[in-house]
Amino acid sequence: MMRFFLETYGCQMNMADSELVSSILIDAGHQPVSKIDNADVIIFNTCSVRQHAEQRVLGRIANEKHRKLDNPGLKIGVIGCMAQRMGKRLMEIESGIDFVVGVDQYGLLGSILSDSELPEGDSTSMDSSQLYSSILPQRENQHCAFVTIMRGCDNFCTYCIVPYVRGRERSRPAQDIFAEVTAATLKGYRDITLLGQNVNSYSHDGYDFPGLLRHLNSIDSLWRLRFITSHPKDLSERLIDAMAECDKVCEHIHLPLQSGDNEILRRMNRSYSSGHYLDLITRLRNAIPDIAITTDLMTGFPGETGLHFENTLSMMREIEFDYAFCFKYSCREGTEAAAYDQQVPEELRLERLQRMIDLQREITLRKYEAKIGSQVEVFVENLSRKSADHVSGKTRDFKIAVLSGTVDQIGSLMTATVKSATAGTLICE
Ligand code: 5AD
Ligand code: SF4
Repeated sequence: MMRFFLETYGCQMNMADSELVSSILIDAGHQPVSKIDNADVIIFNTCSVRQHAEQRVLGRIANEKHRKLDNPGLKIGVIGCMAQRMGKRLMEIESGIDFVVGVDQYGLLGSILSDSELPEGDSTSMDSSQLYSSILPQRENQHCAFVTIMRGCDNFCTYCIVPYVRGRERSRPAQDIFAEVTAATLKGYRDITLLGQNVNSYSHDGYDFPGLLRHLNSIDSLWRLRFITSHPKDLSERLIDAMAECDKVCEHIHLPLQSGDNEILRRMNRSYSSGHYLDLITRLRNAIPDIAITTDLMTGFPGETGLHFENTLSMMREIEFDYAFCFKYSCREGTEAAAYDQQVPEELRLERLQRMIDLQREITLRKYEAKIGSQVEVFVENLSRKSADHVSGKTRDFKIAVLSGTVDQIGSLMTATVKSATAGTLICE
């Protein structure tokens, strides 16, 4: 039996994968620990989407390996996207690493910890059939659960490493998803988020994504249903109708725009134009009043001129996203865009990123302030960090709300009036 400490980087998919890994390790007889000091094995679940994320993890490992001096039995392992991308090369770059396991081979982890050596076979080989469908995740959060409905991505946006490290897109059987969501809601996870790199291209057993939503909407013990991430090219009229008609599906969509310029979108291989994206926003807002729209934006893609960048800012002003995750382009070896000329200098990327962030902060504040005076439904998840007699939770449109309450309210729905707002929180009564 080994005591393991798991540290997770990157997106919600990785968070959900860490819950699967915990479950696999517990089933194999190992024990999770919440303090790194108590661990016999430290596992880093890593992200490769930007270079910065990889550097951070290597820095963390370099910082932690001194523990081996006091505890010679201690093992350090790397799993996730970076393990998949770099394989055993990682162990040459960082001498502190003892094992590397790729995203489709988590089943090996139980025996790796028990035998403290890699079993036969390649621990980073890809297996496009791997869905981990029979494993019930070991969840940390008490009230909200993530349920992975598909793995991988076939879109090959030219900047993105994900299709190379996560492999081909495959959907989980619909019946497995129904069973997992039902079981989770009965355990008290009333707020379910469906996860996938591209959820709206879900397809299995005759179910498409709108069909899956409609079926899940009929589960009595479920209160709220969300999903991330959607690709604009797969956002169908059927999906908009399902969102509008299913009362449990929350009024929120995360719809990455990436760039507001058609030439850049084409070179990113995004398969939509800014006009099509605007049309989708209009249709969503007509069908679902008050829907919150969040997005991912990128600046500094190779060849991005000042004019291209201004087109992104114009789209931001026109659409007024509730929130935007803003990134500067990071060159990923092996992707198509890595070979493009005209890489934008780092200084310019940073300057544009700051302008984007500043503009979005203004817009987000306006969006939050517009809620003042309205009634919201809050799913209470935690005691407030700042005050003992306040609780915090989320509104249906994915905004954090704080209101007076006690521990007894955690896990319940409350109706509140918004009294004031910052660019990240609604203060309610
Ligand atoms: N550089 C910067 N951002 C990236 N993303 C994906 N690949 C890169 C990259 N090479 C961003 C996209 C995506 C989000 C998850 O990460 O905006 O939607
Ligand atoms: Fe990457 Fe594009 Fe797939 Fe998203 S849709 S994971 S950005 S390739």
